[in-house]
Amino acid sequence: MSTTSKKVYIETQGCQMNEYDSSRMADLLGASHGMVRTFNPEEADVLLMNTCSIREKAEEKVFSALGRWRKLKEKRPEMVIGVGGCVASQEGETIRKRAPYVDMVFGPQTLHRLPKLFDERNKNKIAVMDISFPENEKFDFLPEPKVEGCKAYISIMEGCSKYCSFCVVPYTRGEEISRPFDDVIAEIAHLTSQGVREITLLGQNVNGYRGTFHNGDICSFAELIKHIADMEGIGRIRYTTSHPLEFSDDLIAAYAEIPKLASHVHLPVQSGSDAILAAMKRNHTAADYLARIKKLKAARPDILISSDFIIGFPNETDDDFMATMNLIAEVDYDHSFSFIFSKRPGTPAAELSDSVSEETKKQRLVILKDHIKKNTLRKTRDMIGTTQRILVEKVSDRQEGYMVGSADNLRVVYFPADASLIGRFVDVVITEEANVNAVRATAPIWVEDLG
Ligand code: SAM
Ligand code: F3S
Repeated sequence: MSTTSKKVYIETQGCQMNEYDSSRMADLLGASHGMVRTFNPEEADVLLMNTCSIREKAEEKVFSALGRWRKLKEKRPEMVIGVGGCVASQEGETIRKRAPYVDMVFGPQTLHRLPKLFDERNKNKIAVMDISFPENEKFDFLPEPKVEGCKAYISIMEGCSKYCSFCVVPYTRGEEISRPFDDVIAEIAHLTSQGVREITLLGQNVNGYRGTFHNGDICSFAELIKHIADMEGIGRIRYTTSHPLEFSDDLIAAYAEIPKLASHVHLPVQSGSDAILAAMKRNHTAADYLARIKKLKAARPDILISSDFIIGFPNETDDDFMATMNLIAEVDYDHSFSFIFSKRPGTPAAELSDSVSEETKKQRLVILKDHIKKNTLRKTRDMIGTTQRILVEKVSDRQEGYMVGSADNLRVVYFPADASLIGRFVDVVITEEANVNAVRATAPIWVEDLG
């Protein structure tokens, strides 16, 4: 890379979808303008903020970070500042009104137009904005992803058409759109040709995937997984985030049939109370959800399950909260991402009055988090003495002669081995807990033969 390459710094808020989008922004500007990614904003020529608006204070976080960047731009006026992601999509013009030094505003569906926006901005020296929702065009214009390491993410669908009453995503990312089957397979083949062994399929409702085959037939999520599992090089498949309503019998059957499908699933339920689930417009009951989980555990007995919970949805009673805790006990979750309900402008739930105090909500959140954290630790300890399949990822920087890998259930595993095993699956026996999410293990007792 030439020493004169321009540098792009990208700050990412929010979920894995945004992390993925940020990498694609770097890929795009690398392919179009030879830019390289830097992790130091002070030396950047282009500063990009990839925003998330899922919870409150997102907008304020964006403007306070932009305030810091304004000072950098005062020192180097040629710096170009761009704001992308869901806050950009939601706020549009307001961003420029409040922060006139911003040069580019683009949404999650127009990030592929970033090189064009950048050129336009440089040519005309005026700010540019594009927060439209062009159907599926985005993926046709993205360059092949750059690969680092043996794990990679791939976005297979975008947006959400579920319109839960509390959620802003359908308004900021648009309705569900699936990428065609052939495009997904081609991108995965490109990744595996560069040494990727574990793939994580991404989407707001990833199991709602309905891509088209080239003959026009529809490919379900379960079918897609079967095809990917048959691809050369693929050793493990994960996905996130899934929706209970799309957790089909086919998908459950895939857990019995496809060992490459990891034994960990993130299946958000939000609440265990039927009254709250109805007010959230989730379109299922706690019993419906439990029935799915029961079937899933029958298909894959060692599966670990995680969920998102929203605590303090308007008028959540003690009984509603107890129903959530009962459901948590029954499912025996491994992890959760739990937050207090946050009013999002433009969503139906933001209009609801609320009788629950902030104090009560905070107490409920602590109870829930403490309970699930104990589960995480117990499940980590339960691994001791078991044999686990590990993807060897990198050399440990903590202990000489040790490697770091990941188990099917997302635990980090430290074990004695050498770097020649990176990118291979091995079996190890777990010997002790390292921390709540990590364990130590023996040297490999089996090593995958790559032929
Ligand atoms: N597909 C997922 C599902 O089945 O629910 C949802 C993905 S959503 C982008 C990620 C998470 O953000 C949700 O599961 C929810 O817990 C949280 N979330 C969304 N809106 C929220 C709000 N207004 N307040 C608090 N948490 C919220
Ligand atoms: Fe949001 Fe519900 Fe979709 S939580 S992303 S509207 S499934």
